[in-house]
Order: sequence, then C-alpha cells, then structure tokens
Amino acid sequence: MTRKSLVAGNWKMNGSQAANAELVDGILAAAGQARAEMVVCPPPVYLESVGRRLADSAVGLGAQNLCEQEQPGAYTGEIHGTMLTDLGCRYVIVGHSERRALYAEDDARVAHKFATAQACGLIPILCVGETLEQREADATENVLSRQLAAVLDRSGIAAFNNTVIAYEPVWAIGTGLTASPEQAQTVHAFLRGQLAAADATIANSTRLLYGGSVKPDNAKALFACPDIDGGLIGGASLKAAEFIAIAAAGTDH
Ligand code: PGA
Repeated sequence: MTRKSLVAGNWKMNGSQAANAELVDGILAAAGQARAEMVVCPPPVYLESVGRRLADSAVGLGAQNLCEQEQPGAYTGEIHGTMLTDLGCRYVIVGHSERRALYAEDDARVAHKFATAQACGLIPILCVGETLEQREADATENVLSRQLAAVLDRSGIAAFNNTVIAYEPVWAIGTGLTASPEQAQTVHAFLRGQLAAADATIANSTRLLYGGSVKPDNAKALFACPDIDGGLIGGASLKAAEFIAIAAAGTDH
C-alpha cells in the first residue's frame, strides 16, 4: 500500500484575521501545485474562521494542542478534542517539543493527550525528537524509543493504524539547521522499525513526517527518502508560496 505524502503547517502562535485570510487565500489559489495532502494548524482562536475559508477545499484543518481530559468540564483555559472536531479539525499536533519544553508536557501527559485525541475522532500528529545534547551524547535512539514507548504502552500498536508521527530534532526547529536527508532517513527507519517490531503492517502504513527548518530548497531531498512521508512545517508555513513549494515536493512512498 502507498503512503500518501502529507505536509502540515504549524502556525504556532502567529497570525491575525487579516494575515490568515491572505495566507489561506494564497494557499488555495496555488493548491493545484501540491503533490502532498495539505493541512494547516492555526492557533485555536482562528480555527473557526480559517476552517470556514478552507471549506470544501482539499486543505485540511488541524489544531496545535488539546486537553488530555476525557470529558469536558471545569478546566479553565483548556480545549477539549470534541470542540476541535466541532470546528472541523481532522488532525491535532500532540507532544510538540515546545509544549514539552516550555509547558512541562512529559511523556505520560503526551500519551494521555494522544489517547484522548483518538477517542475524540482526531488523528494525532505525534511529535518526537532529541535535543542537541542528547544527540551529542549518542542518546537519540533511547530518547525516541522512550517517547514512542510511552504512547505504545498506553494505547497499543493498533492505535497507530491512523496516526502520523513527526520526527522533529529539537536542534533543527526554527534554527535554520536542518537534519541532512541521511540523518533524517536514519531516524525515520529506526522509528518505523520500532513500530514494525510490534506490527509490520501498521509500521508500513504509518506516515512519518520530518520537521525542523524544512524550506522549499531542502524539501525535495528530504521527501525523496524512502521513510520520509512529508513534513511538519513551522516558519515556512506562514508564507503561502513557501508552503506550496514544499507541498509540491511531496513524494508518495
Ligand atoms: P520550523 O518549525 O519549520 O520553523 O523549524 C517546525 C516545527 O516546530 O514544527
């Protein structure tokens, strides 16, 4: 079976009504050039307006985060997964390194969010990745297995049937330092192997995205790697022309 390439834009805490309208219109105008499935993940306050603008287009809507609680209720400031599906979200990013590092999301909470996202009918984009210190200490594989095992232990391999994993080396996010295609492919093959140890069919069908300073000029070489099924794009997803150029580099495997 073929894995369809996916390019997801993580807008992070950026945007305004006017800027979003311009960005979405630019993406829609050139969407025909994309070879990858496209998803945009705006800040939660803009999900509704961006979703309306995307209505009936081929570009999907995703959220950047959700609350881990199974039920809505007295959790001030939080957003339940059913509220995201209510606004038309199909995907949700879970465990982004900025959430892990700046908002103290540990492996257990990330695994809880992953499970709640699926229970709410959302497709989690589970982010994993090592810091520079961990890479230099040769701990990359340990860190990634630990991050993945937290989710596997809680939800089981069957939960990965309709899941996306994004490998995002922390040292490559927003720094302009991209992992080389060889470095990224090595890690992606390792991650797929971890899944395959539990279920080879699921491992083969799971889309593994690379994230960390993906730009139009490096996307093609990254996406050509056999285990890289697209990208999670930060900075370059805020410019329609760059996002489209990256999506145009999508390669199905
Ligand atoms: P970047 O961010 O493309 O700006 O490096 C990627 C991400 O954090 O998802």
